[in-house]
Amino acid sequence: MARKIVLTSGKGGVGKTTICANLGVQLASLGFRTVLVDVDIGLNNLDVVMGLEKNVVFDITDVIMGKCRAKQALIEDNRFQNLFLLPSSHNSGKTKILGEHIRSVLNMLDSSFDYILIDCPAGVDAGFHRAVFSANEAIVVVTPHLSSLRDASKVIGLLNEYDLSSKGLVINRLRGDLLASGDMLKVEDVVRAMHLPLYGVIPEDDAISSACSIGGYLNSAESTRAFTLLCENIHTGKKKIFDCEMKYRGFMGYIRRNLKRKV
Ligand SMILES: Nc1ncnc2c1ncn2[C@@H]1O[C@H](COP(=O)(O)OP(=O)(O)OP(=O)(O)O)[C@@H](O)[C@H]1O
Ligand SMILES: [Mg+2]
Repeated sequence: MARKIVLTSGKGGVGKTTICANLGVQLASLGFRTVLVDVDIGLNNLDVVMGLEKNVVFDITDVIMGKCRAKQALIEDNRFQNLFLLPSSHNSGKTKILGEHIRSVLNMLDSSFDYILIDCPAGVDAGFHRAVFSANEAIVVVTPHLSSLRDASKVIGLLNEYDLSSKGLVINRLRGDLLASGDMLKVEDVVRAMHLPLYGVIPEDDAISSACSIGGYLNSAESTRAFTLLCENIHTGKKKIFDCEMKYRGFMGYIRRNLKRKV
């Protein structure tokens, strides 16, 4: 049976889709059959981030409407063995899609996969509820900014109404230079505010942004390491957290910090 994990945040643009795609790559690289499911009906973008938008033939709405089987709508990612995408549709259409519909599609895939990662839309309206309804576990993605934490805290309250076996936190877009100079909320403070176990942290990195913009490979050893640790923590329950601040400590770190500030 697959672990069905929804990535949610409340606030938009904090990195749910980015983390879903990169976590999927890591899980697939470890040999786990993984499917990424875009449930942002009408505003799909997981296919674009994965660089697979040209391969879309059927989408999740077609499966729900009985136009094809769930497996027919899957797109295999040729770059990574074991990685598949179930895309969402570009238009919201007239069909009212419910959590029960999404859940029944995921149940069709359950026995063929180890992981089903569900990319939740921003906000806390119907799209949020149908995504969470179809999951067994949740990852709350935040950035170290008060606006993100405020929205995430609302989301965590709503998640408590669902029967989820686990909930964890990922802090995205951490800047090591700002952490080292005390100009960014510390990881411990974010964790304390959210009352959730920390699954991982991801640094702010132009390489992440450019890989997502062009649907390409992530060309950064540092960020790849952060995603690998996140993946291992989720799979094994370990708690090894990537150290975003490391290269900004000490004398050389001081120089790097000042150089970064001048960029
Ligand atoms: N760690 C990071 N470093 C640099 N850029 C990042 C990072 N994480 C995300 N981004 C960039 O931030 C933007 C928003 O990310 P993304 O689309 O994943 O957010 P989202 O939470 O899925 O948004 P939405 O709520 O609209 O679905 C993208 O341009 C992405 O490339
Ligand atoms: Mg998104």
